[in-house]
Amino acid sequence: MSESTILVERAEKVGIIRLNRPKALNALSATLIEELLKALKAFDQDAGIAAIILTGTERVFCAGADIKEQKELSFVRAYNTDYLKNLNDGLFAVHKPVIGVVNGYALGGGCELAMMCDILYAGENAVFGQPEIKLGTIPGAGGTQRLIRAIGKSKAMHMILTGETINAAEAEASGLVAKILPVDKVLGAAIETAQKIASFSAPVVAMAKEAVNEAEELGLKSGLHFESRLYHSCFGLTDHAEGFGAFLAKRDPQWVNE
Ligand code: HXC
Repeated sequence: MSESTILVERAEKVGIIRLNRPKALNALSATLIEELLKALKAFDQDAGIAAIILTGTERVFCAGADIKEQKELSFVRAYNTDYLKNLNDGLFAVHKPVIGVVNGYALGGGCELAMMCDILYAGENAVFGQPEIKLGTIPGAGGTQRLIRAIGKSKAMHMILTGETINAAEAEASGLVAKILPVDKVLGAAIETAQKIASFSAPVVAMAKEAVNEAEELGLKSGLHFESRLYHSCFGLTDHAEGFGAFLAKRDPQWVNE
């Protein structure tokens, strides 16, 4: 039997998914994408899991689409399999927060996969890039759309048209990643953050995530309207009454996730 292209583990309420194709620098084969989407869905549906971490190894997050596999694709097969859309849709459908932890290369589809995560932490050796232009193609899993939102048009255009990479410090300075840490510390720090998020009311975390993500889809007026609808619906939660009551009673809240 062939080795799994991902490794899955748990740390209390945090589900950890590691990309596991070290010989191909964790390139996104069709099988890896399928296994990754299954694991994400399983963690999302698992009541014992409240946040998810997606990472690679300390050397590489992901070197992008599997170039050997893609070389064999015709237009029609690429169009019909549409696995990049599946990847975007699959990540987009996850209710629980997904923290991406990037050490080493996050190139092409790897950079795009990182940007599909809700929060990004990077090791000091992280390298982000959209080198597709060097292969005679363009980013295909959100690079042209998400990079501009993350770091602005000029920097995004520069990366995409030159294929040049940015390092961890540049990624942090431009807002692509939330934090950079030493390589051997970054996963632990992300797990701590995930545990912290997991300590809050699950439906409130999911609504906050949904509202923030809608900011990328909607204009300000519609976005504010969407936010206020979710904000108002929080008043219906038992956890809302608990949070406010606990604050006023000067005690810790006991969330029931209802
Ligand atoms: C398949 C890959 C690969 C990839 C590396 N390998 N990247 N295999 N797909 N994307 C394989 C190499 O062929 C090699 O296999 C082994 O991994 C180690 O790679 P090296 O090149 O020897 O390592 P190194 O010299 O350290 O260079 C690392 C690297 C380089 C800078 C990351 O591998 C590289 O430039 N890779 C391609 C990155 C890229 O162009 N990505 C965009 C892909 S297109 P062997 O068998 O020789 O040991 C894309 C489109 C987006 O992502 C679509 C959405 C998914």
